[in-house]
Amino acid sequence: MSTFSAPKGTYDLLPPDSAAFLAVREALAAPLRRAGYGYAETPGFEHTALFARGVGESTDIVTKEMYTLTTKGGTSLALRPEGTASVLRAALQANLHRAGGLPVKLWYSGTYYRYERPQAGRYRHFSQVGAEAIGAEDPALDAELIILAADAHRSLGLTGVRLLLNTLGDRACRPAYRAALQEFLRGLELDEETRTRIEVNPLRVLDDKRESVRRQLEGVPLLRDHLCEACKEYHERVRELLTAAGVAFTDDDRLVRGLDYYTRTTFEFVHDGLGAQSAVGGGGRYDGLSELIGGPPLPSVGWALGVDRTLLALRAEGLAPAAPAATDVYAVPLGEEARRVLFAVVTGLRRAGVAADFAFGGRGVKAAMRAANRSGARYALVAGDRDLAEGVVQLKDLASGEQRAVALDAVERELSGLLT
Ligand code: HAM
Repeated sequence: MSTFSAPKGTYDLLPPDSAAFLAVREALAAPLRRAGYGYAETPGFEHTALFARGVGESTDIVTKEMYTLTTKGGTSLALRPEGTASVLRAALQANLHRAGGLPVKLWYSGTYYRYERPQAGRYRHFSQVGAEAIGAEDPALDAELIILAADAHRSLGLTGVRLLLNTLGDRACRPAYRAALQEFLRGLELDEETRTRIEVNPLRVLDDKRESVRRQLEGVPLLRDHLCEACKEYHERVRELLTAAGVAFTDDDRLVRGLDYYTRTTFEFVHDGLGAQSAVGGGGRYDGLSELIGGPPLPSVGWALGVDRTLLALRAEGLAPAAPAATDVYAVPLGEEARRVLFAVVTGLRRAGVAADFAFGGRGVKAAMRAANRSGARYALVAGDRDLAEGVVQLKDLASGEQRAVALDAVERELSGLLT
C-alpha cells in the first residue's frame, strides 16, 4: 500500500480484469473498422469554449461537470467530457471534409472526464468507444451506426440491451414545439432551478425523474405531434432500415439526451441489469454543430458506447468476453546454462509470433512451475543440464501434464505448429 490512492470516482485497470476491458473495447470498435471508419485521436483537453458552445451552455456537463483549468498564459482549457465536439473540431481543422468524399467516417476510443457524483457505473474518469459520420444527411447513415452498435453488442453475446429511439426535429419544426412546450411548463408548479431550465432548455424538463414533476407532465405537448414533414419522413426511413436489418427498437418520444447539439435521430442503448446508470451507449444526429463551432454546414451523426458499462452489462448477464491468453509458452530453466539457452529460445519464439514468457528471478522449480500454471500458458518448456547435454528441452502440456523431449533446434517449429 502506498501513501496515495486513486482520486475519488476514478479506477485503475490492472490484470487480470484489464484483459476483459481491452476485449470489450476491441469488440465495440471491430464493426466500425469493417464499415470504413478511420481511427481518430484528439487531445485529452481542449479550449473550454469548444465544449461550452458545442455541448451547450445550459447542459449539466458544461455547467457542473467539466474539469477546467487556466494555463499560466491565461487560456481556459477543459478535460474532454465527451468526444463529438473534439472529433468534429479536429476534422474541420484538418479540412477532412474537403479532402475526399463525404461523409468523413471516424472512430475513436479514450478516457473522458466528468465531475459527477460517483456511483456504480458512473465515474469521473470513464472510457468510451465512439463513432462520427460527418457531412451527410442520409437516414441510411443513422441506421448504419445504430446497426453497427447492435452488432457489437451481439458479438459480445449480450442479449439484454434495448434500443430506445426518438427524433428531436430540426430547425424548421423544433422552435414552434419549444414555444408550445414552454407555455405548458410555465403553468406548472416547479422549483426555481426547473423554472430557469424551462427558459434555457425546456426539453430537458421532459427528462426530469422526480415523481412530483412527472405527475404534472401528464398531457405535455409531444414533439411527435409537431414534427415537420421532412423530419417525419426522415425518421420513418431510419425506422424502416432498422427493421429490415432485424434491429429491434422501442419508440421513446420522451428520450432527451444530456447534450444540446442533437437534431432529428436520437437514441440510447440501455441495459436493465445495471441499476440507475442503465445507458450503455447513446448518440444521434447533430446537423448544426459544425456551424456552431465555426465550420460550414455539415450534417452529421454519431454515437459513443461506454466501455465500463458494457463490461458491467456482460457481468450482469454472467458473460465474460473472450480475451486471448496473454502467454502461450512459459520457459522454466533449471540452472545457469539453461537460463541462457531458454532465454534465447523465448526471444526466438516471440520473434516468430508466439506469446512466450520466462521464469525470471532465479526462483526454485516449484515456484517457477506455479508461475507457469498461473500465466495461463498451454505449454511449459523445461530444461536442465542433462537435457542440454542431449540437445533437447522438455515440452510439457500444462493441461494434461504430458511431457516429451524436443530437439532444441526444432522447438520453434514444433510450438508454432501446435499453437496454430
Ligand atoms: P453520452 O450519452 O454522454 O454521449 O455518453 C455515452 C455513453 O458513455 C453513456 O451511454 C455511458 O455508457 C458512458 N458514460 C457517460 N458518462 C459516464 C460516466 N460518468 N461513467 C461511466 N460511463 C459514462 C456522448 O458522450 C456523445 N458524445 C455521444 C455522441 C457521439 N453523440 C453523437 N456522437
